[in-house]
Amino acid sequence: MFSIAVFVSGRGSNLQAVLESPKLKNLVQVKAVFSDKLHCPAFDIAERYSVSTYSIGEKEGFITFNDAKDLLVTLNIDLIVLAGFLKLIPADFVKSFRNKIINIHPALLPSFGGSGMYGINVHKAVYNSSAKVSGASIHIVDETYDTGKIIAQHCVDISDVNSPEEIAAKVLKVEHEILPDTIEKIASGKLYFDDSRIRFKS
Ligand code: GRF
Repeated sequence: MFSIAVFVSGRGSNLQAVLESPKLKNLVQVKAVFSDKLHCPAFDIAERYSVSTYSIGEKEGFITFNDAKDLLVTLNIDLIVLAGFLKLIPADFVKSFRNKIINIHPALLPSFGGSGMYGINVHKAVYNSSAKVSGASIHIVDETYDTGKIIAQHCVDISDVNSPEEIAAKVLKVEHEILPDTIEKIASGKLYFDDSRIRFKS
């Protein structure tokens, strides 16, 4: 089985989409869920599926990123998936898992990303720009927010929407499809680096 760890901060709907995906059922095991919070709704989802949860950070009672590194190695984790994790991943942690951390972002990068661009803030910025398309992006995590190479994207038509919340709902639906799809392709060894681009074998 291909082993993954999922990092979350809140609701956990993407975690749930991964846990419930039929295409990941016999291919991928979620071995651990990490959050920068002591408790969050995503932990309840993890517990329902008997997945171990850990609070990560420098606070008392949390495990440090350094300890988490050792744990992830012990667990033989093949891929770390950030699904709504709000903290910046420390540079030395990124270095230890270079090209093995991916993030899902609720807009079409490289637009509408970066510090402060999370949750409804993203969709408000998209709405106020009057953009006619938005979507979801999955990218490699590097040392800064939302700048790593893009692995997968899916567009949604937002020409008729009347609120940022409407954009959020449309994009979330697509997120729940492309995250399991992308993990499935990575777990099947289909992702490869071709010069400066990331491609998938067919
Ligand atoms: C998603 O929109 C994801 O793209 C972003 O944070 C949100 C997390 O939602 N990074 P959920 O916790 O998976 O429901």
